[in-house]
Amino acid sequence: MRSLQGKRVFVTGGARGIGLAIGRQFAREGAEVLLGDLDEAALPAAEEAIREAGGTGHGYVVDVTSEEAVATARQRMLDDGGPIEVLVNNAGVVFGGRFLDTPLQRHKITYGVNLVGLLTVTHAFLGDLIDRPEGHLVQIASASGFIGLPYGSTYASSKWGVIGLSESLRLELDLDGHDHVGVTTVCPSYVDTGLFEGAKPPRTTAMVKPDHLAELVVQAVKKNDAWVMTPWVVSITPATRALLPTWAFDKVAWALGVTSSMKQWKGHGGKGS
Ligand SMILES: NC(=O)c1ccc[n+]([C@@H]2O[C@H](COP(=O)([O-])OP(=O)(O)OC[C@H]3O[C@@H](n4cnc5c(N)ncnc54)[C@H](O)[C@@H]3O)[C@@H](O)[C@H]2O)c1
Repeated sequence: MRSLQGKRVFVTGGARGIGLAIGRQFAREGAEVLLGDLDEAALPAAEEAIREAGGTGHGYVVDVTSEEAVATARQRMLDDGGPIEVLVNNAGVVFGGRFLDTPLQRHKITYGVNLVGLLTVTHAFLGDLIDRPEGHLVQIASASGFIGLPYGSTYASSKWGVIGLSESLRLELDLDGHDHVGVTTVCPSYVDTGLFEGAKPPRTTAMVKPDHLAELVVQAVKKNDAWVMTPWVVSITPATRALLPTWAFDKVAWALGVTSSMKQWKGHGGKGS
């Protein structure tokens, strides 16, 4: 998708953080940005931020865990201006803490928003992307989708699921002759939004800035790249993990501070709580 001018882009969890940064970056490229979020109160300011970035757009209250709410939001978008061309599945939550100290309900919310919610939105909108001359699906996963993450076990495993779904869909779309629909899977390490406050980025790296990540995501959509992995240490993680025996990879992850990175987590968890 070389030009984003006039393209309709839907970003879930777009009222703040990474989603809003991605929305603003699409707006700078002349796209029409539709923000979907559970947090109704945050949407007006987010819409204003999109306008300030030079774009047009609209906010929609939607809970990605509700099939009905997702279907209603899609119908409203169709009525307001037609089908979307780009879907950014970004809404996500995290509850850090030891597995058994975290109530089961919170583990289920994590899967519900990060994996089942993403599945629900993808299922509702993918047909619209296929029906357009060009379409693109952006799945916000995480570097934790490549490794085990103590004190973030359901968060990490929800992202392993997102990566598996995204990879499978990318190949399935090609196999079915829908190569006009691109898929980009986004795997950043910790990003400076407050969601992971207290967590420690891997040694030798800093927290990723949301605007920097948003630039990488929009560039990837324009170039139809399959992956965004940042910072550099993330991009060597899958190969390192595949090549090293488990005990050696565990030592590397420990030395980089990844294994203990969630121990001091005190982030806001997400509005899904
Ligand atoms: N912040 C990080 O360090 C980091 C790192 C890697 C990946 N990610 C992923 O990036 C995405 C965005 O994270 P962020 O840091 O911007 O978080 P954030 O909490 O700043 O923003 C998340 C947004 O999603 C919305 N949301 C939550 N549950 C929802 C639901 N059920 N329906 C609709 N909207 C909902 C929230 O209201 C919020 O506006 C998440 O998927 C997260 O897992 C974040």
